[in-house]
Amino acid sequence: MIDVLVIPGDGIGPEVVAAARAVVQATAAPLRLHEAPAGWDAFVRGGVALPADTLAAAHTASAILFGAVASPSAPVAGYRSPIVELRQRLGLGANLRPVHSVSADLVVVRENTEGLYSGREHISDDGATAIAERVITRQASAHIAHVAFRLAQQRERPQPRVTIVHKANILRATCGLFRQTALQVAADYPDVLVDELLVDTAALQLVAHPERFDVLVTTNLFGDILSDVACFHAGGLGMARSANLGARHALFEPVHGAAPDIAGRDRANPLAAIGCAAWMLAHLAQQHAAVPALATAARQIEQALAWVRDHGPLTPDLGGTATTGAVTAAVIAALGSTAQEVAR
Ligand code: NAI
Ligand code: MG
Repeated sequence: MIDVLVIPGDGIGPEVVAAARAVVQATAAPLRLHEAPAGWDAFVRGGVALPADTLAAAHTASAILFGAVASPSAPVAGYRSPIVELRQRLGLGANLRPVHSVSADLVVVRENTEGLYSGREHISDDGATAIAERVITRQASAHIAHVAFRLAQQRERPQPRVTIVHKANILRATCGLFRQTALQVAADYPDVLVDELLVDTAALQLVAHPERFDVLVTTNLFGDILSDVACFHAGGLGMARSANLGARHALFEPVHGAAPDIAGRDRANPLAAIGCAAWMLAHLAQQHAAVPALATAARQIEQALAWVRDHGPLTPDLGGTATTGAVTAAVIAALGSTAQEVAR
């Protein structure tokens, strides 16, 4: 049995994670799923957003399936976003956010541990000046660039391309170092085209010409924003999955947040979270070549997801009227029919 830690979180997090669990449990994948708390509810109940037991379990699990957490926009003493902390503490340096549809087939590769999410913010004694440190290191920049170029090679497009996204014309030191490092790494991958865009231009290009992109590589905040822009082309946040990958750990989570506006109403789209479960299984399959049931389950879920995406039922964000539960049941039902195809 392979140990997976499940962190449902807040809002629709537990709803979409329950859906993903149900789908995984309907396959023959030999996983043992443990649940642990993190997020706003955990903070209100126990005073910590990322309990020590949860962090310890994250360190020992083979993979982590994360829902979403609600982080207040007003500062709350002692609260820090647990997903940002998990990324930093587990060394999850790369955040991969693929977008796949008829109009777009691209991956945003986002540096995940530093940049403006370094957590180094200060406010002056009079409260009138606030400063955030935008930490960019050569090491993390080189790492994320290698991840992006290797991914471009693996995607095996006719002409693989990595677009480096930055704002080095203004942020000369930080984006300058990121850009220069990524361009140096590019030299190791002569088979991959490299180009660069300023982040504001990249945002418009992602809206207007998504087909021009293959892999984008960028810093933490830019990647967070651009991946929300890009996922528009594939049905929006309810469809967008992501992987947080490090040398020792892997965490899979939908791109969306806790969605308090629809939480508790059985109308959250579970397909992003179910897609995360499929991706997690494919990742585990690579590490456990002796357990073919993992890859089989991953393929089965991907096929069932594609079938439901094309034939419905769909939740309201995709123009349908179905509940989270009905969509999940449809994915599970589609597993049955695709299981025979996979076995053949
Ligand atoms: P959000 O992603 O939670 O919601 C944005 C909009 O998309 C809402 O209208 C929501 O209803 C809709 N939406 C999101 N996921 C959906 C789904 N699966 N099905 C149908 N509709 C969906 O972002 P928002 O509203 O900016 O943030 C809400 C809370 O979530 C905040 O507390 C924020 O801190 C947190 N958040 C957490 C993230 C994480 O845990 N990784 C990521 C982004 C936000
Ligand atoms: Mg985001």
